[in-house]
Amino acid sequence: MLTYNTRMRRIRLWDKEFEISIPFEQIQEAIKRIAAQMKVDLEDKNVLFVCILNGSFMFASDLMKELELQDAEISFLKLASYSGTNSTGQIKELIGFNENILDRTVVILEDIVDTGHTIADVMNKIRDRGAKEVKIATLLFKPDAMRTSIHLDYIGIEIPNDFIVGYGLDYDRRGRNLKDIYTLVK
Ligand code: IMP
Ligand code: MG
Repeated sequence: MLTYNTRMRRIRLWDKEFEISIPFEQIQEAIKRIAAQMKVDLEDKNVLFVCILNGSFMFASDLMKELELQDAEISFLKLASYSGTNSTGQIKELIGFNENILDRTVVILEDIVDTGHTIADVMNKIRDRGAKEVKIATLLFKPDAMRTSIHLDYIGIEIPNDFIVGYGLDYDRRGRNLKDIYTLVK
């Protein structure tokens, strides 16, 4: 098994090369900004955060530590929509969650909004279960790929329409463990 130091400039996953594009320090700054905004908006609400697995696990973890909201609760929804480097447009719910969300404020935590289909689907599922208010926080956003008109309440970093890995995001299961974000070299 290969090990590599996570600050390498260029990495290889399966058949593809990736180059560092967003260092962890920049991710951290974006998370701090989102946390500051959330503190103002959500302080007096009994919020349920819903982390969309697998991709959002690092974002959710770092955001929760930064936010320190006393009455926050967090749950997890496991979805899969990507196959390789292209969105399949088909979203499967692999593990649902059981929390009662009737009349609550729910904040969806997503790693990246690409076409927006996943987030629109999650939003509808949560609205259908009776949430009072549903907000969306995404660490990364590809505005040029967006195909839905859904409103994003918190956006960390806007990025070009390129395929990326790292900080939770994968290329065929690999790369999620990387601390920094890397872009596919064309
Ligand atoms: P959407 O439904 O097209 O918005 O896709 C959203 C999901 O696709 C995200 O939750 C990610 O899991 C995955 N995804 C989108 N863009 C990328 C990427 O550049 N690298 C890895 N996964 C991605
Ligand atoms: Mg995801």
